[in-house]
Amino acid sequence: MPPTDSSLNITQTKFLLGTAEREMLTGHHGLVVWMTGLSGAGKSSIAVGLDHHLNRQRHLSYILDGDNLRSGLCMDLSFSEQDRSENIRRAGEVAKLMAEAGLIVICALISPFAMDRKKVRESCDKSAVPFMEVFINAPLEVCEQRDPKKLYQRARAGSIPGFTGIDSPYEAPVNPEVELRTDLHSLDDCIRHLAANITKRTALEG
Ligand code: ADX
Repeated sequence: MPPTDSSLNITQTKFLLGTAEREMLTGHHGLVVWMTGLSGAGKSSIAVGLDHHLNRQRHLSYILDGDNLRSGLCMDLSFSEQDRSENIRRAGEVAKLMAEAGLIVICALISPFAMDRKKVRESCDKSAVPFMEVFINAPLEVCEQRDPKKLYQRARAGSIPGFTGIDSPYEAPVNPEVELRTDLHSLDDCIRHLAANITKRTALEG
């Protein structure tokens, strides 16, 4: 996004507390867990279960879910390629701030474009916020068969133009930190595997 005149006159406010002080309160490092995958692959189900699992282990997490954000922060955005990119950018920026506050931020968005996900990773890297890409993977046929919101049915009937996987592309991650095949493993197993990976990464040293 090109800088506007007003953004040239902006001076960042420095906080008295750094991430390390905040992490002393949460007891673990902050982390952005970025889950990407087709609609119906299981992102939201894993996010909800993972959040609960982490909470029981006294870890502070929160979910940024695509469908939920689209009724508030991102309610002005459509599913055009440009608006999806803006959707991912906003979610990524919020997730980064929340991770800087010491939270494990579970992001569940289709985020179909590799470049948009790469930008979120780069933005986190730049701020030294740990980032983990998680590919929630199930074949399109399986997602379509599950069709929990009956959206594939409607998309096939032509009433949702530009539906991901049908007439809008999904670019699968090439090198995700974690891949979960939700058609091959149970929801519980996926959650346990991911939670173990996360708690290993977020443990405070010493
Ligand atoms: S993203 O592509 O911009 O990352 P996001 O995760 O926020 O998508 O929202 C996806 C959700 O919006 C889906 O789970 C589905 O319920 C709904 N949806 C509505 N229209 C579409 C569409 N054209 N493509 C994909 N999902 C859609």
